[in-house]
Amino acid sequence: MSSTSLVYLEGLARNYAVKAVMSDREGNYADAINYYRRAIEILEKILQLYPDHSLNSIYKQWIGEYRRRIAELESLLGRVKVSAGGGGPGSSEDLDGFFRVVEKTSITFSDVADTEEAKEAIREAIVFPSKRPDLFPLGWPRGILLFGPPGCGKTYIAAAVAGEIDGYFVSVDAASVMSKWLGEAEKRVSRLFAKARELAKSGKPVIIFIDEVDSLFGTFEAEVGGEVRVRNQFLKEMDGLDNKMDPRQLVFVVAATNKPWRLDEAFIRRFQKRVYVPLPSKEARIEMLRMYTKSLKLDPSVDLGRLSELLDGYTSSDIVEVVAAAHMRTVRELFNGAGGKGEPRPVTFEDFAEVIRHRKPSVNREMIKVYEMWYEKYKAL
Ligand SMILES: Nc1ncnc2c1ncn2[C@@H]1O[C@H](COP(=O)(O)OP(=O)(O)OP(=O)(O)O)[C@@H](O)[C@H]1O
Ligand SMILES: [Mg+2]
Repeated sequence: MSSTSLVYLEGLARNYAVKAVMSDREGNYADAINYYRRAIEILEKILQLYPDHSLNSIYKQWIGEYRRRIAELESLLGRVKVSAGGGGPGSSEDLDGFFRVVEKTSITFSDVADTEEAKEAIREAIVFPSKRPDLFPLGWPRGILLFGPPGCGKTYIAAAVAGEIDGYFVSVDAASVMSKWLGEAEKRVSRLFAKARELAKSGKPVIIFIDEVDSLFGTFEAEVGGEVRVRNQFLKEMDGLDNKMDPRQLVFVVAATNKPWRLDEAFIRRFQKRVYVPLPSKEARIEMLRMYTKSLKLDPSVDLGRLSELLDGYTSSDIVEVVAAAHMRTVRELFNGAGGKGEPRPVTFEDFAEVIRHRKPSVNREMIKVYEMWYEKYKAL
């Protein structure tokens, strides 16, 4: 029995579980379900390949919990899914899986460590005009683009915007627009905007959030007709937000991407605010470590400042995973030694250091340079 592949599978399961829980917290229930399922798959694989493994009883418990949560989320999704109602633009069946309206998420800006520039930009662009449209006689930007390396908080910040405003947050699954609705896709884009305008009649702000927008509007080497039409429809709708609409209607488009260079100029121009979400600074890393170790028992040897130095160059999601892995060491020990009885020992500095030694940052310096160069070129705050 090779224990390295066991460790590998455990790592994989943990990564999926972390992603599931994060997506769950952010209100991305479809993603959460997906990740819970993958975590279950891997855990079942472990049970099957390593029937004598000491952690199996806890894994069985986790599988049970994930299954329950999946069932809950599935019924929740059924309720959250937007239904346009009789005669409205598009029936709920048509829109199934394409976008959903979330009225409020549980996370707010206070759950988001640092990233002050991004928060400030969003505050100015969305919160101010929403509260006092009369102070903006010249209008305000309708498009905000969040870009930056993977795992540094773009999706997380956007989810927090939903918790921050009293309004509607319409979350669009960009990939499913293309894969499922090619050909019909541009009609769906216009329905999406029609729905947003309809919601905006309530007087509350409406944010259309398009995650991983590059998968929708990137410049492709061999563009299929559908992609061009979707893009053009989208640009038209964005322009329409300024012209056709009652200026007091508050519709914003927030898009996120970790591949901004795939977007074309016409598209970029529609997003007057472009916000770089960079690797976490030292302060941000400390704040995040504090957040994510809050529920853990820490040994006095753990100095979060020193730890944050070891994590220079790591992404936010790397940090979450390092914390989870350090904690996992104590849980594993408990099961290997005491058979899972009692409490795990406190997590020590060495637990963290050991995890970090075996784990490279998921982005490298060269990649970061590319983001910074793109930012220099298209800077707009
Ligand atoms: N500023 C932050 N404060 C606290 N936690 C954060 C912060 N930024 C990121 N995280 C954590 O890292 C995880 C990954 O972040 P997120 O999914 O938002 O990255 P992303 O920038 O959207 O990445 P991708 O480009 O791959 O989509 C989040 O779920 C959250 O747990
Ligand atoms: Mg994201």
